Amino acid sequence: MELKEVLRFADEKVFSTTGKHLDDLQEAILKEVLQGRKYATKVAQDRDCSEGYVRVAASELWKILSKVFDEDVTKVNIRAILERAKFYTNFSSSVVSDNITVKNINICQERARSPTEPQNPQQTSKKPHIDLGDAPEIFSFFDRTSELSSLENWITQEHTRLIALLGISGIGKTTLSLSLIDRIKTQFDYVIYRSLRFSPTLDATLTNLLQIFSQQSEIPQNIETKIAQILDYLRKNRCLIVLDDVQMLFGSGQLAGQYKTGHEDYQLFFKLIAEVCHQSCLILNSWEKPREIARLSKDNHPVRCFVLGSLGEAAKEILNSQKLSDEETWSTLIDIYQGNPLWLEFTATLIQDLFGGRVSEFLQCEMPILDEGLQSQLSQPFGRLTQPELAVMVHLANQPEPVAVSQIFNKIPFSPSEIVNAVRALGNRFLLEAIEEEKITLFSLNPVLKQYVKTQSS
Ligand SMILES: Nc1ncnc2c1ncn2[C@@H]1O[C@H](COP(=O)(O)OP(=O)(O)O)[C@@H](O)[C@H]1O
Ligand SMILES: [Mg+2]
Repeated sequence: MELKEVLRFADEKVFSTTGKHLDDLQEAILKEVLQGRKYATKVAQDRDCSEGYVRVAASELWKILSKVFDEDVTKVNIRAILERAKFYTNFSSSVVSDNITVKNINICQERARSPTEPQNPQQTSKKPHIDLGDAPEIFSFFDRTSELSSLENWITQEHTRLIALLGISGIGKTTLSLSLIDRIKTQFDYVIYRSLRFSPTLDATLTNLLQIFSQQSEIPQNIETKIAQILDYLRKNRCLIVLDDVQMLFGSGQLAGQYKTGHEDYQLFFKLIAEVCHQSCLILNSWEKPREIARLSKDNHPVRCFVLGSLGEAAKEILNSQKLSDEETWSTLIDIYQGNPLWLEFTATLIQDLFGGRVSEFLQCEMPILDEGLQSQLSQPFGRLTQPELAVMVHLANQPEPVAVSQIFNKIPFSPSEIVNAVRALGNRFLLEAIEEEKITLFSLNPVLKQYVKTQSS
């Protein structure tokens, strides 16, 4: 949406509620904030007043807008709230996207309704319909406190419609999403978890979801109607849906995040979930970043990416539960294995089996040692790499220090464009570490991946 259009819309809404238009100062603040800029300095300079004065005016403005839109408005969420509200007001009966028209969805046209406000307030009962399918049972869950509260905030406060929960295999995406479900399930009408590990077609996934929503009623044949019905359910009910193992929709031997033949229509479905107005949230777990996510989140849609990292100190609980000894050396072990819970579980079992649980004795071996199970885990993402990606990995595995992309040019038999695209794809598969050093981005492999690549290429 154009900036001018958003400003005009905000002004109209304020006028219709308060009977007053936005004044020049309020409009100037809004203009800066909507462009993602730090407003106080710029507005104060332009208007020759103090930053403090502008901040007070801004805080008054957020109060007015909170009243107008009936939810907490801040500089962080104002754009999303305005766009969503405008969408509610404008949206008519069809959504046209990527050459497919989803007809008669009848989205959000009844009245401008806040997505937090269920159509029938009784629908958000304390007893949601929960269908977790074949989700693994979680026996122990450590920490992830800040991750859980960020995700909860995005879903319940910011009404994010599409979240990509990303990170290398074993880092804890499935576990975290199930724990999140447990934490916030009572705020939903429907809570659904499905794994896409067998790469179902979109048609099969939609049918599966519709069976949960519609119970006994007949499922339509036509995929357009299926999509329209799902969107209708997401609009009328507050639903939390986790689709796990989304990486299984992507092909191998091509750059990261590209859909396999026959699965391309997921892209449109995810786009509609992000763009169409509804009150639900879809979480996609994947160890490859879906291509459209980056674009959608840049376009100011309520879409977010969360890249899950090390479990940190809490990983000691894993070592503790596996009854390892030499606690003073656990931090070293966690660092080497990147705080990846699965890598640590494999390694802890190995230490228990061969070293009587003594971590210091294990650490005397040349590090890192890769357990067979860990190697087989890594073989999955590695089996998908393109030739240029493999060459970049092998090159980086043999570098003692991080290197810039330009330092890889001419070192492997691929063109600069191929190398740049390969580095980016490896980033989207979470196989590279990037650090900023004196205005240069340097890339390297973590010790586990380095060791794995060396073992495979020797
Ligand atoms: N926060 C956590 N606390 C305890 N164990 C965890 C935690 N996160 C992950 N794990 C364990 O690590 C392993 C891999 O986690 P999983 O969620 O399957 O990773 P991913 O889905 O990213 O591949 C599982 O055995 C899981 O029990
Ligand atoms: Mg998983």
